[in-house]
Amino acid sequence: MPDSDPRTIYLADYTPFTHVVEQVELTFRLAPATTRVLSKITFAPNPESDGGTFFLHGEALKLISARIDGAAVEVRPVEGGLTCDVPSGRFVWEAEVEISPESNTALEGLYMSNGMYCTQCEAEGFRKITYYPDRPDVMAPFKVRIEGDLPVLLSNGNPVAQGEGWAEWVDPWPKPAYLFALVAGELVNHLDSFTTASGKQVELNIWVRPGDKDKCAFGMDALKRSMAWDEQVYGREYDLDIFNIVAVDDFNMGAMENKGLNIFNSSAVLASPETATDANFERIEGIIAHEYFHNWTGNRITCRDWFQLCLKEGLTVFRDQQFTGDMRSHPVKRISDVLELRARQFREDNGPLAHPVRPESFVEINNFYTATVYEKGAEVIGMLKTLVGDTGYKAALDLYFERHDGDAATIEDWLKVFEDATGRDLSQFKRWYSQAGTPRVGVEEALSDGTYTLTLTQATPATPGQEVAEPLVIPVAVGLLSPNGDEVVPTQVLELTETRQEFTFEGLGAKPVLSILRNFSAPVILERDSPNAERAFLLAHDTDPFNRWEAGRALAKDVLVRMITEDAAPAPDYLSALNTVARDETLDPAFRALALGLPSQDDLAQTLFEARRTPDPLAIRRSVRALSRAIAEHSGETLSDLYDDMIVPGPYSPDAEAAGQRALRGAALGYLTLVDDGTRARAQFETADNMTEQLGALAALLNIDAAESELARFRAQWQGDRLVMDKWFGLQASMAPPDQAAERAQCLTEDSDFDWKNPNRFRAVIGGLAMNAAGFHAPTGANYRLVGDWLIRLDPVNPQTTARMTTAFQTWRRYDADRQGMIREVLEKIAATEGLSRDTTEMVGRILA
Ligand code: ARG
Ligand code: ZN
Repeated sequence: MPDSDPRTIYLADYTPFTHVVEQVELTFRLAPATTRVLSKITFAPNPESDGGTFFLHGEALKLISARIDGAAVEVRPVEGGLTCDVPSGRFVWEAEVEISPESNTALEGLYMSNGMYCTQCEAEGFRKITYYPDRPDVMAPFKVRIEGDLPVLLSNGNPVAQGEGWAEWVDPWPKPAYLFALVAGELVNHLDSFTTASGKQVELNIWVRPGDKDKCAFGMDALKRSMAWDEQVYGREYDLDIFNIVAVDDFNMGAMENKGLNIFNSSAVLASPETATDANFERIEGIIAHEYFHNWTGNRITCRDWFQLCLKEGLTVFRDQQFTGDMRSHPVKRISDVLELRARQFREDNGPLAHPVRPESFVEINNFYTATVYEKGAEVIGMLKTLVGDTGYKAALDLYFERHDGDAATIEDWLKVFEDATGRDLSQFKRWYSQAGTPRVGVEEALSDGTYTLTLTQATPATPGQEVAEPLVIPVAVGLLSPNGDEVVPTQVLELTETRQEFTFEGLGAKPVLSILRNFSAPVILERDSPNAERAFLLAHDTDPFNRWEAGRALAKDVLVRMITEDAAPAPDYLSALNTVARDETLDPAFRALALGLPSQDDLAQTLFEARRTPDPLAIRRSVRALSRAIAEHSGETLSDLYDDMIVPGPYSPDAEAAGQRALRGAALGYLTLVDDGTRARAQFETADNMTEQLGALAALLNIDAAESELARFRAQWQGDRLVMDKWFGLQASMAPPDQAAERAQCLTEDSDFDWKNPNRFRAVIGGLAMNAAGFHAPTGANYRLVGDWLIRLDPVNPQTTARMTTAFQTWRRYDADRQGMIREVLEKIAATEGLSRDTTEMVGRILA
């Protein structure tokens, strides 16, 4: 589809802009329906351009006047903007436009959320604010004046002057328009400060609506820890006098790194023990860090064009993952990240939406803020670091900041820095950026005369538009254990660069047990049928915590696949191995909680599909529930001990240790509820003084379809809190039993609190339903149609969120002919909708192709 759409944009077509922008001055006269934006922009010819027509982006703007060097100028409207004749040298462009923030439901550009003005300009939203070369390689210092009858008026940079109803801001750091931001409203601030390594005082604020002031403390603490961490680990100091964060209820994504004025989805910053779960706290800490880290990786060094998005996103995700590992636990963070990678990125990479980490074409760039660009982009950086080592990585990063500060850079620039700093040739490694698909790595072992030979193979399946894949550089971390559990070869990194390659280890008496792909050293699928006895051995003895967890995971998957396809009984070996891990007090509770988790139903569906079996979502669900019950029965005593012992004393604290104990206790509760009629969960729901325990109890009860009275009480208690009510909606949509899912979802969409134009609420219900594997795929197809009709309804209002949620259907070819037929019908109905957005058109076209 992208190749046949005339609106397709290609990486290969990049040309620099005709001009450079030396200075931008903006004045905003705020009014809900008639905001006036006055711009004064100094342009000069770009020595790097071969010339061409002067063009400014602009969308949905009412042009009031335009002048060049003070004289009125005739502009010619063209697709997506305007052009006009310009002087050959430097000139000043002045324009006045009118826009209507209150009718901007797409939440892109300047819009209103709960009475406050806010902006979202990445990727191409600034063109909805005024005429401008809205591309990331055009960087300029901005001066902004805001006029509006509101107490708080914020923009990027430092505040320079203010009075009753106006404020002026100056951002001295040249930036692309996508980092522009403006906020105005009746807000209150949680104030703090940070002293940088070189002794500069920075004022810190989190701005929220008056009722939310008690939910800022954790975010502020996370911000200060992020600032200190970036100084210590990357040597990066903050560069303005003030750093502002604003919480906004209506927001398409998690958060945005606008220079000096980060704007956050309120779900990504607001937290109190009563309203946020441990998982929420951890996510908030990670997102605050992520957006803060962008100040260097994204803002000071930005992207030349949107094809280079992974330059800032992959690197910044990698940095926030390192940060969370340092703050909490590296193994636990790695396991969670791999779970997420497999659930979202592998799903994408092995279906119709597969694309390279650096795509080569797009119709709508907002459709490429994906798990591949972000999470696989981070994996690629992790592999680079593994290959060049910690010292090489540090040298390369220092050189990157030194060489490219102030630049709009490319992946070529990024890799060159590693080559120059380490002397390594990265031409083959670069394929990770251009080749889509998840590589399969095969493993063969042989032992003869004390020499152990490991033969590794690699192959990447075809992906849309990419029939043949070249071999990649795959760092494979391995260790060898002796049968008594001692490590005979500690972790070393093998570099797999060919399709088939042998590695030998000398001097081994007995056949060692292989621990391969330690710490998940590459984003690949291992194709290896190791005996379950070996997996059980690794689960008990591996020195690599990730692989210990992975061994348990592989066991669980094997057991479940046999239950699904052969009607096998839950394997007793697995049950006892799991029981041993759960009881092992030398293991971190957070790790044990992860070990107690079972593979998701979606993961199992993909596994079956790859084994050329058509997954039956209802059979998968039945087996997962049967295994859960078997675990609850087999480990009843262990789980009940854990439930009693893992009580965290004292007042709630979101720290990693306490959260890990609650996670383990929560996992135990989930199982116990299957066999105690909900007694414990009901009691916990009664007495919980924090959201982790309240919601955990509610979910456990929903899982046995016995939460009616708790749901009503939860709602009565939390009616006034939008973020908590999102949980109420989301849990019901995602957990309804298959035969009730359609009715439940219908009922939720008719609820008076189903504010469908709010992306969080829409995602809670419609996204929740799509995540309810067996429910979504109920054989009637009712839920396919329900989701499809809601996407058609949302599209004209908010194309970005609509397009993103079409991914509910990306796995459609896994299923049987009936289901495929019903999904195809829904997708075709969406595609045929008159006036369908470019965003959704592209997504549905790719999914159907
Ligand atoms: N740069 C933001 C982040 O780091 C994402 C913003 C994307 N927004 C969008 N509408 N495409 O995470
Ligand atoms: Zn980001």
